[in-house]
Amino acid sequence: MTFTDKESHMLLNAKRAVVTGAGAGIGRAISLSLAEEGARVLVSDLDEGAATRTAELITAAGGTASATVCDVADEASVVALFDHAARVLGGIDLAVNNAGIADHPGDIVDLDVETWDRVVSVDLRGTFLCLREELRRMSGSGSIVNIASNAGLKNAPGMAAYTAAKHGVVGLTKNVALQYARRGIRVNAVCPGTVGTEGIRSFPAELQQQWSDMIPMGRIASPEEVARSVVFLLSDQAAFVTGVPLLVDGGLMYD
Ligand SMILES: NC(=O)c1ccc[n+]([C@@H]2O[C@H](COP(=O)([O-])OP(=O)(O)OC[C@H]3O[C@@H](n4cnc5c(N)ncnc54)[C@H](O)[C@@H]3O)[C@@H](O)[C@H]2O)c1
Repeated sequence: MTFTDKESHMLLNAKRAVVTGAGAGIGRAISLSLAEEGARVLVSDLDEGAATRTAELITAAGGTASATVCDVADEASVVALFDHAARVLGGIDLAVNNAGIADHPGDIVDLDVETWDRVVSVDLRGTFLCLREELRRMSGSGSIVNIASNAGLKNAPGMAAYTAAKHGVVGLTKNVALQYARRGIRVNAVCPGTVGTEGIRSFPAELQQQWSDMIPMGRIASPEEVARSVVFLLSDQAAFVTGVPLLVDGGLMYD
């Protein structure tokens, strides 16, 4: 991929952006889309090598990016991420709180406390920790997107921790959006259904087909389709949109 010379039409031209969990899947696609729209992106991930690879992909395509390590569940690591952003970007205008993990489907009576704590720590506490630093450092303007899930609005069968954590992310998004509605900072959530990341593509083809058949549009989303909705919400094209959980699920929610 190469980015064409379309600076004047870029939706996020020269904006300074931080993306978490950006070393793979949806976070990598978001980082690439932000850079394609002119943003300078600080790519962060628990896996430093994966973050570096995303930054290299952006740079190779003509965009501007650098990489750093961050565990969103760890307060000191999150503070260090945004201190680093202040140094390398000179501040932040945009943030995407994307890092997330899921529990394996099963009966809640078999769900161990360690798994519950880990999922809630990464998905909900991680989103809180990042939001807090972003809001402390954005002065007077900014746009933030939290990556929730359709499991933030409906049940994800058998996945109690994930469903609870993602409902929490949607609630937190509404709360913070309203706290900051008159302070120039918009906060929204994107709620994907099933997305064709490497993880999802590693499941047996028959299972992927079953998931596709369940979706009214007849297929699962690409990571790039999720990324485009993030770009929209971050951009001035969504200037009067805040507190919204935007479903990107091919119609699954209302089937
Ligand atoms: N893939 C889907 O079908 C789907 C659907 C709905 C929502 N989501 C959400 O989208 C987001 C991205 O999911 P994905 O499928 O791209 O995941 P993925 O597993 O493909 O990539 C997640 C990335 O996050 C990183 N990560 C994991 N724990 C971290 C931590 N504590 N701190 C920082 N980085 C960490 C991983 O190293 C990895 O690079 C998640 O919040 C997920 O819940 C995914």
